[in-house]
Amino acid sequence: MAPLLPRMQVFEIADQEWFPQFLRTHMQAALTAAWTTHIPLLQSSSPARIVARLLSHHFGPSIHNYTFIDFCAGAGGPTPSIEKHLNASISTSPPSYAEAATAPPPVQFILTDLHPHPALWSAAASASPNLSYVSSSVDASNVPQHLINDQKQKGKKVFRLFNLAFHHFDDTLARKILRNTLETSDGFGIFELQDRSLSGFLACCLFGLGAMVMAPYYAFLWGAPLALVWTYLVPALPAVLVFDGWMSSLRTRTVGEVKDLMGSCGLGEGEIRKWEVRSGTERFIPGVGYVNWIIVTRKESQE
Ligand SMILES: C[S@@+](CC[C@H](N)C(=O)[O-])C[C@H]1O[C@@H](n2cnc3c(N)ncnc32)[C@H](O)[C@@H]1O
Repeated sequence: MAPLLPRMQVFEIADQEWFPQFLRTHMQAALTAAWTTHIPLLQSSSPARIVARLLSHHFGPSIHNYTFIDFCAGAGGPTPSIEKHLNASISTSPPSYAEAATAPPPVQFILTDLHPHPALWSAAASASPNLSYVSSSVDASNVPQHLINDQKQKGKKVFRLFNLAFHHFDDTLARKILRNTLETSDGFGIFELQDRSLSGFLACCLFGLGAMVMAPYYAFLWGAPLALVWTYLVPALPAVLVFDGWMSSLRTRTVGEVKDLMGSCGLGEGEIRKWEVRSGTERFIPGVGYVNWIIVTRKESQE
């Protein structure tokens, strides 16, 4: 989608230290709901399922060579759902025992973050044998070598996931993260639900409206009746969701801007030429809801 405004490194309210933690928790849960909810008739699919399809389509059978590490998992985000949809879509029942023995194992996903949430992640990991997490802090700009080496020793390539996260980084941090990614990994994906187009800004309004409509359902599901107070009596939740959504939109980079950062991250031109950049948008709500994706892979690592 064509950007309406230039990129701006504006602040988000929920990132501020003074912002109450219980409201931040509700907001993170609302973002996860935005990733994973599929409302029949309104949505063709959930955004998380779209990301699973994109990865499966992009990698084909070589997807089994990769481990997917979410470097900014926050409260969990879409990765548990992406794992579930991706492995369900690529698993076919082998017709014989012999074929079952040689069938590739499911694809593994790992949750990490600078500020880890092991309590939340362990609940997600206990629901799937293909999802694990790192309970210590992992900085995407300086990844512990053992995290990468563990995968290499298993014969796996590392693909980094940045779900609703890359727009948070200013240019200096984004360059450091890209350099570390290109030096240690075999690919990365940036998946955003907003951009700087008109539909990107409208999608944030729809998200706030959706939070108001769905609040009773989620308040019941999460056992959090106070979410109703912060939605209807003092509508801080929908207001901050919309405002921070707009701020996120203003910070979201186009694929050209991500390529520029790759080119200026400190690696030589020859190194950058070894990477293939693909991008696109996938609609999940007609007219407003789009997954904006950028998938970057090392050329020689694609079988
Ligand atoms: C908006 S949250 C991500 C939300 C989640 N992926 C989702 O879709 O709901 C951004 C996350 O980036 C993490 N983060 C910020 N700087 C980081 C860094 N240098 N390395 C790893 N994670 C970082 C923050 O701790 C935060 O949890």
